[in-house]
Amino acid sequence: MKTIAIGLLGYGTIGQGVIKLLQKNARLIEDRLGARLELAGVADPDLTRPRQVKVAKRLLTRDPFRLVRDPKIPLIVELVGDWPGVKELILAALRAKKSVVTANKALLAKHGAELFAEAEKQGVDIYYEASVAGGVPIIRVLREGLIANRIQAVYGIVNGTCNYLLTEMSQGRGDFQTILQQAQAKGYAEANPASDVEGHDASHKLALLIRLGFGVPIRLSQIYREGITALAPADFEAAAEFGFAIKLLAIAKLKDGRVEARVHPTLIPAGSLLADVGGVFNAVYVVGDFVGPTLYYGRGAGMDPTASAVVSDLMELARNYLRGEPGRRLPSGSFQDSRPQKLRVMPQPEVLTQYYLRMQVRDQPGVLSKISGQLAKENISISAVVQRGRGGKTAPIVMLTHTASEAAMEKALKRLNRLAVVQKPIQRIRIETAL
Ligand SMILES: NC(=O)c1ccc[n+]([C@@H]2O[C@H](COP(=O)([O-])OP(=O)(O)OC[C@H]3O[C@@H](n4cnc5c(N)ncnc54)[C@H](OP(=O)(O)O)[C@@H]3O)[C@@H](O)[C@H]2O)c1
Repeated sequence: MKTIAIGLLGYGTIGQGVIKLLQKNARLIEDRLGARLELAGVADPDLTRPRQVKVAKRLLTRDPFRLVRDPKIPLIVELVGDWPGVKELILAALRAKKSVVTANKALLAKHGAELFAEAEKQGVDIYYEASVAGGVPIIRVLREGLIANRIQAVYGIVNGTCNYLLTEMSQGRGDFQTILQQAQAKGYAEANPASDVEGHDASHKLALLIRLGFGVPIRLSQIYREGITALAPADFEAAAEFGFAIKLLAIAKLKDGRVEARVHPTLIPAGSLLADVGGVFNAVYVVGDFVGPTLYYGRGAGMDPTASAVVSDLMELARNYLRGEPGRRLPSGSFQDSRPQKLRVMPQPEVLTQYYLRMQVRDQPGVLSKISGQLAKENISISAVVQRGRGGKTAPIVMLTHTASEAAMEKALKRLNRLAVVQKPIQRIRIETAL
């Protein structure tokens, strides 16, 4: 039986998951491939740390370039995370004519264009199934399964940490900080959670989904981003009263020949499928012009689900390799790499949505008309208002608006926040009803 040598860079959480899967499912992989995937080396700067998953000592090295340069290794798996030299490492592998599997969404979102171009030049591949939604094979869905469709919209719950925090808040388990600390204690949130809770991680994943779904090589600065740190228990209670759940959504929509690109907390109908995606789970809802709405759901992170995606990429590359095609069976996106689409990204001020506004106002006559008056100046009309109890001299008011542009809402909010009757900065959350 043929053997294909694999070089693994990074003996961390996912690296160990990959080793475990290659060991545990070795027979199944052999049966399916007709060849053996053999770990030829594992590189990591720290070889002394105790690991859950063991590997023969002779395979270990501190030098990732040793594996990248080894002519006997045709396939490289990069799982080193945010080490600053990672781009050079992948470029070195590509230039040595090796195909690369990576789960590194941050790297691909920032340097994907350069890396994919190098892969094309060298006639090899970069596969990245694990970089979005962990074990959920959403890259293959967009690259292959829905390739005949014009993608109209993508809505993703793609950050498990945020979804866990929001699920806990929706169940009345406490405020953001309390729940974050509990999640950190349970290992569901990083010690430094900024990349997750500020929406950076979700926007990296959205950049990849947009490239696949719409053929647009988007810059991160073109994606509007807002995290979940300002959400309060009162928002979940009010949203539920209006029949909504709150999720951090990564949204890309085709509208009048342009693509909306945004990551922010979003009110979605409580009865929608995405509203039921709880805890650390991920889901991506994709609408194609022929297929209609489709939904992909599963574990978006963790050692085993992510290893499932990484090894599925390895097996695909191994199949190509066995056929004598070291790369380029599929373009790196869903479009021809050499012909990026002409679509433009819609500037956020032009995006149209409905809004939820929660405010603390002085409890006195005429307040509502002052507020609706300011909104009316920007042509924003109110579709529902609730006064939620009374707190002495102030009263909490929650309102939903009809569709308005982001620019109009920004102007209205500036004016409203200046009114003497408004006691605290107004909480604004966008609403998506099409789910
Ligand atoms: N964790 C998840 O659930 C998940 C899900 C999807 C995608 N991913 C992606 O998968 C990748 C790996 O994540 P992870 O959770 O496995 O991270 P991790 O546990 O921190 O593992 C990374 C490993 O790479 C090592 N490393 C650092 N620099 C290296 C170098 N120059 N050469 C070789 N190894 C090096 C690190 O060593 P030191 O610790 O000694 O620095 C660490 O052992 C990341 O890109 C991440 O975004 C992770």
